[in-house]
Amino acid sequence: MSDVLLEVKDLHVNFFLTEGIVRAVNGVNFRIERGKTLGVVGESGCGKSVTARAILNMVRPPGRIVSGEVNYYGDPKSPIDLARLDPGGKRIRQIRWGEIAMIFQEPMTSLSPVHTIGNQMIETICLHLHVSKREAAQRAVDLLSRVGLAQPERLLNRYRHELSGGMRQRVMIAMALSCNPKLLIADEPTTAVDVTTQAQILNLMRDLQQEFGMAILFITHALGVIAEMADDVVVMYLGEEVEVADVDTLYYNTGHPYTQALLRSIPRHDTKLSRLEAIEGNVPDPLNMPEGCKFHPRCLHYVPERCIDPALEKISGQHWVRCTRVHEIKPQLLQTEHAE
Ligand SMILES: Nc1ncnc2c1ncn2[C@@H]1O[C@H](COP(=O)(O)OP(=O)(O)O)[C@@H](O)[C@H]1O
Ligand SMILES: [Mg+2]
Repeated sequence: MSDVLLEVKDLHVNFFLTEGIVRAVNGVNFRIERGKTLGVVGESGCGKSVTARAILNMVRPPGRIVSGEVNYYGDPKSPIDLARLDPGGKRIRQIRWGEIAMIFQEPMTSLSPVHTIGNQMIETICLHLHVSKREAAQRAVDLLSRVGLAQPERLLNRYRHELSGGMRQRVMIAMALSCNPKLLIADEPTTAVDVTTQAQILNLMRDLQQEFGMAILFITHALGVIAEMADDVVVMYLGEEVEVADVDTLYYNTGHPYTQALLRSIPRHDTKLSRLEAIEGNVPDPLNMPEGCKFHPRCLHYVPERCIDPALEKISGQHWVRCTRVHEIKPQLLQTEHAE
């Protein structure tokens, strides 16, 4: 237990809308170990961002954490259930940024339009590290240069609208690292940038992780990126985990038809035609969830009498799959993969 930094247990987050209840996160469980990277992957609308916000107890109305635990072992001897803290209270505000930092999916969320980059970074650093303004400014400059931004002193006086998408993303990483977090939550940190910048930012995050020894919760809709970043992976579909495994197992011993579909949608460089297959069908309306297995309307292996309420089942070691037909279809999934 000593190497676990954060443990999410049976987390449920609902949005209470006039049209009905959206069960955005529906009983999710995972652990993040100190210094390791856990990837969370799934299509848009699967509950990744809501999970991330719930960890920091930042779900806003009409959404609410309805049950579950978010146990944070910053001090292994006295874990704290972040879900039980007052969302506006002092303790959670110390933990946000100070111990658990987040790079938000929307770069605009965490960069203020009316303050300079310098003001924001210096204020955050002063608040959490209890250093002088001068020291905070020096740290801000160091970090901005560490994330590969030129002329960091001048950047301190800039506003967010003066920066390109790639620069904003780097500033956000610098800000997230500014207080030496134990856990960095990166919610689709490279979605808004081009592929070259993406590669640079991923390299940078890996280097900084080595240097700072932090754990990363890396959220993405692209399974290809997970391979480069994560040790372990949680695949989410409609607010639930459908597969949990280490990266190699997930790629080479895939258990769930949804994971397989995600794998097929990765663009390939080894074929002349880059085959970018979208997954058949759409993510269903969250107010109108399918009965039984939630993936069944899109699943190539659906058998009505078999595919009823699958539970997350341990199929080996640390490999978990939510599919009642996993033992029958796994050999087929692997065969198709090898035949290509
Ligand atoms: N403010 C909100 N009001 C209502 N529903 C929301 C809100 N935020 C998220 N949701 C719902 O929660 C579900 C999960 O959303 P989200 O976590 O943002 O997905 P992801 O990050 O995986 O793309 C979606 O069905 C979305 O419609
Ligand atoms: Mg999201």
